[in-house]
Amino acid sequence: MNLTALADTAQAMVASGKGLLAMDESIGTCNQRLADAGIAATGENRRAWRELLLTAPGLGASISGVILADETIRQATTGGTPFVGVARDAGLLVGIKVDTGAHGMAAHGGEKVTEGLDGLRERLQTYFALGARFAKWRAVLAIDDTRLPTDACIDANAHALARYAALCQEAGLVPIIEPEVLMDGPHAQARCQDVTDAVLRSVFRQLAWQGVVLEAMILKPNMVVAGLACPGQNSAQEVADATLQCLRRVVPAAVPGITFLSGGQSGEEASARLNAMQAATRLPWPLSFSFGRALQHPALTIWAGQAAQRVAAQQALLQRARCSAAAAHGSYSAAMETP
Ligand code: G3H
Repeated sequence: MNLTALADTAQAMVASGKGLLAMDESIGTCNQRLADAGIAATGENRRAWRELLLTAPGLGASISGVILADETIRQATTGGTPFVGVARDAGLLVGIKVDTGAHGMAAHGGEKVTEGLDGLRERLQTYFALGARFAKWRAVLAIDDTRLPTDACIDANAHALARYAALCQEAGLVPIIEPEVLMDGPHAQARCQDVTDAVLRSVFRQLAWQGVVLEAMILKPNMVVAGLACPGQNSAQEVADATLQCLRRVVPAAVPGITFLSGGQSGEEASARLNAMQAATRLPWPLSFSFGRALQHPALTIWAGQAAQRVAAQQALLQRARCSAAAAHGSYSAAMETP
């Protein structure tokens, strides 16, 4: 393990206010997103969509790296250039989602545990050889007002995240550790804060037990928000305050960066909330983004599978990338939304 190289990669992922474009949806999820946008869910449309994203001109001005999926890291543009080469030429680090999805947890109705540890050591070697320099594993925690998530689900997912992270570092890949407390439900923000606190404590306990080097990882948490069905939604400042209070209590200063997921927030909401966090002083880590839907959604809607819409869709992606990067600098304002 070359810890210096890993730490350098981790720092590059959050350098200069840039963030990550998560475009690592599984085949099933990508098909669903295409279908929701009225686009035929075919392998060629998945490839064409990913080509559109990766070839957006100037993407590297706001984005430091892209998270690909197993299918995507092996694909190429219509002209035959491998996607990995396209990313490198654009100055983007290549990441790879390596979990194999969240599956129902036995004896724990309504909860899931993320799988993918079997054979992971060998798969990581393959991904490194293909050009990946960081990886992602996402755990999902359902939340309600009383019962969920159970301690068993929290600990099982934290254990898997730490085992994945240790294997990544052994293979020369920086692990993104993504324990996502979901936004579904009517719970209040305070409940999300309690659950996020418990989840992160379990994750960092497991990381310590399993020998993961904190300087060579990136944390990808949810923001602390009320459930989508909660009638009392919070302001951007309230989300920023609760999120930072939670992170400050649990996340060691040795972690080189925190890149938030968007989790179902709109691009505007995610940018405003991330921006509000930047006003805080003496934060031990840079705060940035690793958004999927908040970067991709407007572009996908505009593209609609039509070649004639390709340039407009790329402009929509670049607009969201610029707004997100501005939020990571603390220079975002709503005025940026009306170019
Ligand atoms: O695993 C989820 C992605 O990495 C982030 O996607 O920003 O749409 O939550 P999201």
